[in-house]
Amino acid sequence: MTDDAGNTVLTPYELFGGAPFFESLVRAFYVRVADDPLLRPMYPLGDLAPAERRLNLFLQQYWGGPGTYSEERGHPALRMRHMPFPIDTAARDRWLALMREALSEQDMPAEAESVLWQYLLGAAFAMQNIPDAIPGERVIDVTEI
Ligand code: HEM
Repeated sequence: MTDDAGNTVLTPYELFGGAPFFESLVRAFYVRVADDPLLRPMYPLGDLAPAERRLNLFLQQYWGGPGTYSEERGHPALRMRHMPFPIDTAARDRWLALMREALSEQDMPAEAESVLWQYLLGAAFAMQNIPDAIPGERVIDVTEI
């Protein structure tokens, strides 16, 4: 793309490696989801390909690539879209562990990898919708009252 002065500037999407990079990353992630006893039950029964496509297109769009995700799905509203799934600390950390492995398999410059990983970390923490228990907190059993 070009900036206001007409200079060609690369988007992160392009710097990371364009569509083939995102396809490869999300493929490597979903191969792992398919075998994961904690995460797999949260995802749709049967074919994971449509879910894989949604994450792939979202990430491409987020990093400056084609806007196909929003053409197909509208506003991402990702936190809202994750509300039906019980994402506690364990689920969040498993998602991150699988994504970390998938990212490590990709061939990309260390600096770009670090930028992408920091984003994924923050996004995964934002998606958690079941809070951690507060250390020392007594959980009150209402049936005892
Ligand atoms: C924290 C752990 C996470 C869990 C357990 C989780 C789980 C799920 C599940 C079960 C779905 C439904 C699959 C489908 O049919 O599309 C989904 C959808 C999706 N997730 Fe996550 N997710 C997590 C984090 C993230 C993060 C960090 C991102 C973005 C960086 C993300 C992006 C998406 C997208 C784009 C969709 C499809 C939304 C749509 O258009 O319907 N997820 N996720």
